[in-house]
Amino acid sequence: METKLEAAPGQDAMMEFLRGKRTYRRFLQQPVPPAVAENIVEAARIASCGANRQSLKYLVVQSPAMVAKVNGLVHWAAYLPPAVGTPKPGECPTLFVAVLQDAAVPGASDMDVGIALAGMTDAAWAAGVGSCIMGAIDRPALTTLFALPEGLRLSCMVAFGYPAHHSHLVEMQAGSVKYYLDEASDYCVPKRPTAEILLGVL
Ligand SMILES: Cc1cc2nc3c(=O)[nH]c(=O)nc-3n(C[C@H](O)[C@H](O)[C@H](O)COP(=O)(O)O)c2cc1C
Repeated sequence: METKLEAAPGQDAMMEFLRGKRTYRRFLQQPVPPAVAENIVEAARIASCGANRQSLKYLVVQSPAMVAKVNGLVHWAAYLPPAVGTPKPGECPTLFVAVLQDAAVPGASDMDVGIALAGMTDAAWAAGVGSCIMGAIDRPALTTLFALPEGLRLSCMVAFGYPAHHSHLVEMQAGSVKYYLDEASDYCVPKRPTAEILLGVL
């Protein structure tokens, strides 16, 4: 019996998607639709993971009051002064998702977290929703805020919302990895050239 595969998106379209899927830190005050939030969790649920153990859990934070509380417990844009790197009132994310490692399911790995994060942020970006993965977070305060039971360890937060700025990939200057804002207050994100990261083709 012949099996027909779903048509894959074109390579060019995929690469354009990945170039656009940057970190966003200022957002329109327009809620992320529930269907998009569901897709973000679904992308996490079906993500590849070591030995298919699926040790990660998620918490969706969408009520404006809770989003505001979480926003006070995360740290934005370490390379920029807070006056320009931290979203001001009216620019804050409208949704957060917490990524948690469940000690009751053995084999929790940071690689699993990374793959889940990629899927979640891809699912969001496919709907035009930008994201910022956040590792610089006040874990003790967030653990208390979420009333997390023993055994659930907060790995990171992800902020989501419709972007209120652009973000451009730029050539690295003088070896600096620091992103910066241009005259339009859009992010410029330097990436190392291929010649530097590709050691060879064997
Ligand atoms: C594991 C991880 C943790 C991060 N933590 C933070 C953070 O706490 N605050 C923040 O503003 N950005 C954070 N970022 C976003 C990075 O600064 C961003 O990915 C990097 O500058 C490159 O930009 P790009 O995502 O547009 O390529 C984090 C990204 C990753 C992958």
